Amino acid sequence: MSVPVRDAVPGEEAALAALWYAAWHDAHATLVPAELTRLRTRASFETRVARDLAAIRTAGPVGAPTGFCMTRKDELYQLFVGASARRGGVASALAADAEARIRAAGHDRAWLACAIGNARAAAFYRARGWDLAGTVVERLEAEAGEDFEMAVWRFEKAL
Ligand SMILES: CC(C)(COP(=O)(O)OP(=O)(O)OC[C@H]1O[C@@H](n2cnc3c(N)ncnc32)[C@H](O)[C@@H]1OP(=O)(O)O)[C@@H](O)C(=O)NCCC(=O)NCCS
Repeated sequence: MSVPVRDAVPGEEAALAALWYAAWHDAHATLVPAELTRLRTRASFETRVARDLAAIRTAGPVGAPTGFCMTRKDELYQLFVGASARRGGVASALAADAEARIRAAGHDRAWLACAIGNARAAAFYRARGWDLAGTVVERLEAEAGEDFEMAVWRFEKAL
């Protein structure tokens, strides 16, 4: 049975930010410039979760999320699963939910940015029908006034 996906709710911001912080560093610290790693503080994730809570879809018990996903127009914008919940179908359920939401918003094609060299994420996306469209330079969200440009893999999928 597929893992249930739900809206994030007020009160679980700290748990979501902690999950995001741990999963981001686990996947990216060895792949991206040290300058970006320096910007990805716990406080930066707390700020972003508080601001975007209404856009976050998550799985797991309220207060103990196992992963989360966000979309932005036709973009699968963030997908993070806690280490203990990997290989359990959480990522698949979140990605399917995100694709359905992008489709429901009127888009027949979705895209996402993935750090170059994030082999696990790339394998995950490829296995679910996403194709590597190329390497592009993306402007990543950082602290105010410190947006960060970085080359990333762009994946696309017809919905
Ligand atoms: C990327 C992520 C969401 C995938 O979720 P998951 O539960 O780990 O996904 P799965 O285990 O079902 O699938 C991962 C795939 O990578 C493969 N894999 C596992 N470890 C790997 C590794 N070190 N290198 C390459 N491939 C790997 C698995 O075999 C699996 O392939 P399959 O679907 O063909 O069997 C999750 O690992 C995660 O949150 N990682 C940290 C954050 C991140 O990188 N987010 C994506 C940002 S673009």
